[in-house]
Amino acid sequence: MRVVLLGGAGYLGAVATRHLSALGHHITVVDGLIYQRDDDPARLLPTASHFVHADLRDSHALREALAGADAVVHLGGLVGEPACAVDEQLAVELNYASPVIAAEAAIAANVPHYVFFSSCSVYGSREGTVDEGTAPHPLGIYARTKVLAERRLVDMLAGDACLTVLRLATVHGRSPRQRLDSVANRMTAQAVATGRIPLNGGAQRRPLVHVADVAEVLASALTTPHSQRIFNVGSDLENYTITQIAETVELVVPGSRINRGLERDEADARDYRTSFARLAAAFPGSCSRRLREGVQEVAHAVAAKELDPDLPEYDNFKGLLASRDSGHVRALRSVACERLHEEYEAADWSTQ
Ligand SMILES: NC(=O)c1ccc[n+]([C@@H]2O[C@H](COP(=O)([O-])OP(=O)(O)OC[C@H]3O[C@@H](n4cnc5c(N)ncnc54)[C@H](O)[C@@H]3O)[C@@H](O)[C@H]2O)c1
Repeated sequence: MRVVLLGGAGYLGAVATRHLSALGHHITVVDGLIYQRDDDPARLLPTASHFVHADLRDSHALREALAGADAVVHLGGLVGEPACAVDEQLAVELNYASPVIAAEAAIAANVPHYVFFSSCSVYGSREGTVDEGTAPHPLGIYARTKVLAERRLVDMLAGDACLTVLRLATVHGRSPRQRLDSVANRMTAQAVATGRIPLNGGAQRRPLVHVADVAEVLASALTTPHSQRIFNVGSDLENYTITQIAETVELVVPGSRINRGLERDEADARDYRTSFARLAAAFPGSCSRRLREGVQEVAHAVAAKELDPDLPEYDNFKGLLASRDSGHVRALRSVACERLHEEYEAADWSTQ
């Protein structure tokens, strides 16, 4: 199968590219390397894959890359609220305009299947257990751009292509293009480097999933296209509170101790327990890796000095600030981006 991964040189994309290549798929990665690691493609991606250095808001480049593809996977964008809050216009262009521009290119190139990487963050803060039928309750820019992109893709692709939306739990574990800025990876790196696991509040619930499990779910979804479907990606066993994540890290990393700070983390109000029953029914046995496996991998890499948690390259937020300050990434304000930004501004969230 010929698969194009948009944003495929990132944390998830590097693992997915290797996994899909090993299964015999022909992979093209399109990525603008917004974190400025120009050696990434040669270092990260299998030699059998093809790399295109392009901006995912460039419809011409996307049409060229998508010619003859059997599927396109969109995993570009800015991840998480702190990164999106740096520049809302840029966040809307990368997280909303880009997936829409990619869908236009996919329709023009007759690509039969579009896979969109969304997030369980769309559920925001909810009592009880959320599933794919629960109305989204986005709490910030990141979640809003994801909800709006999902909706727009559902409308755009109906009748033209299959659409699979993967709403991922928070990802952990080792990737050739490592990130240490998501909750479990960050706590693990700090535990190894300092012996301390900073914890503010901790009662919020958060589902987790291992990065290799995400790649396997993607492979399964690619080979079983349906007209339109949404999956939460994770496992019912992997719903944690933030405190439980810290406790798991404390157990796995010898000599580390939880360091309690503020009673509540005001910066992040996300709090939900998630059902992954739909995914388990479609792909039995998926997402079977447990949190401690990702913690062990990251802990081992930091202890072995393969990763230096003090370097900004493992932190998308710091990387984005550096990239924006140097002019490497910016809001384009092109006609297409401005049109889609207006749609974002006009969205009504009052009924959510
Ligand atoms: N990592 C997680 O915990 C997590 C959780 C839920 C959802 N997701 C979603 O999964 C996807 C991948 O996440 P990740 O952790 O691999 O992120 P990442 O930041 O590591 O990778 C994103 C890649 O996209 C590229 N990119 C972004 N915008 C671009 C543009 N306009 N032009 C060209 N390249 C561009 C970046 O250069 C980067 O290589 C994202 O859509 C994210 O929202 C991730």
